[in-house]
Amino acid sequence: MSSALPPAAAPGPRILLGVTGGIAAYKGAELARQFIKAGAQVQVVMTAGALRFVTAQTFQALTGRTVRHSLWDEQAEAAMGHIELARWPDAIVIAPASANFLAGLAHGFADDLLSTLCLATDKPIYAAPAMNRLMWANPATQANMSTLRGRGVRVIGPGSGAQACGEVGEGRMSEPEGIAREVLGDFAPSGPLAGLRAVVTAGPTREPIDPVRFITNRSSGKQGYAVAEALAHLGATVTLVSGPVHLDTPAGVRRVDVETAQQMAAATLAEIEGAQILVGAAAVADYRPVSAAGQKIKKNADTLDLALTRNTDILSAARAEQPQLFIAGFAAETEKLAEHARGKLQRKKLDLIAANWVGEGRAFDRDDNALQVFWTDGERSLGPAGKSEVARQLAALIAERYAATHAGRK
Ligand code: C5P
Repeated sequence: MSSALPPAAAPGPRILLGVTGGIAAYKGAELARQFIKAGAQVQVVMTAGALRFVTAQTFQALTGRTVRHSLWDEQAEAAMGHIELARWPDAIVIAPASANFLAGLAHGFADDLLSTLCLATDKPIYAAPAMNRLMWANPATQANMSTLRGRGVRVIGPGSGAQACGEVGEGRMSEPEGIAREVLGDFAPSGPLAGLRAVVTAGPTREPIDPVRFITNRSSGKQGYAVAEALAHLGATVTLVSGPVHLDTPAGVRRVDVETAQQMAAATLAEIEGAQILVGAAAVADYRPVSAAGQKIKKNADTLDLALTRNTDILSAARAEQPQLFIAGFAAETEKLAEHARGKLQRKKLDLIAANWVGEGRAFDRDDNALQVFWTDGERSLGPAGKSEVARQLAALIAERYAATHAGRK
């Protein structure tokens, strides 16, 4: 059994960085670096002019993605067609934006890859103009700029100062740090959990018996995924530690995939470092086979004994490591819901526990749910409703309880 975890997906916004022809193209490289440093995913698209100033390799090395520059590159189009590429980003940032490119954009030209993408997107477009001061001041450029601003293009700069051509005036591309700050500022989370990091465990675990068999349970991961999404909507930076499920990662959430309870424990304990909130929505196997057989077990005997050993309780281990962490657990119960849930709240030293009835087709692998939530001196019913709605109510309650008991502690 390997404890190596696959790399997590990058959490930040997806930025399509368009680099057009101009001496400031080299500053585009620094901008790409700034975006990457901030956790954004960056796909660079260069115009033919840009390629005369800097190489595609520079951007490729910085972003880890193949640079796109042609509408007619069959191989690149086969991997991701230009319309798909236009849909991919959260924002298109053109830096530097040349006078010629801005003129084409203002008039709706689609005569190369970048201009086509700008025409085929409904995502915000940012442009950081860079040109000689007279080109910038020219009424044709200014008319184009007012057309673009009128259409919602966010124009950053230009600044003034010494220009590459030896003149002094307005037309220098804004500094990369400033552009990055302005763009990323628009994607900064807001909401009651802004600035907080949350870790959510979700889904079942798989405990191997032999190379082809395992013990698992009916958890679909839907409730945990919905909670991760709801916490992100309230502004938290969310990491989802997920057992094997068939669900898409919610937008803006970073996901770490695991299989076994031991892997989930290791990943969760690593991820809660620097976090303020942990939600244990995973259906973690309480026991695992003492040892997984190296080869497929043969059906020779009439009965087969499987020796099991206890798994670490992840929430209790998290509490032992981090007394300050706000921890919310789930309790799936088939009887004495309130009594068992309150017992777990105390035993695992949780801040809140969301209990639901299970068995007889309730909760597991369904789209709706109802929760009874308990904390030391209160309780509240959530739902019955779709799991997304229940998750929204639970996330709001977590934010409320966090503010009541932990605000100021982070
Ligand atoms: O004790 P019980 O398994 O019913 O507790 C359920 C809660 O504890 C859930 O929040 C679940 O994610 C968490 N749990 C855990 N580690 C385990 C077992 C359960 O974090 N090994």
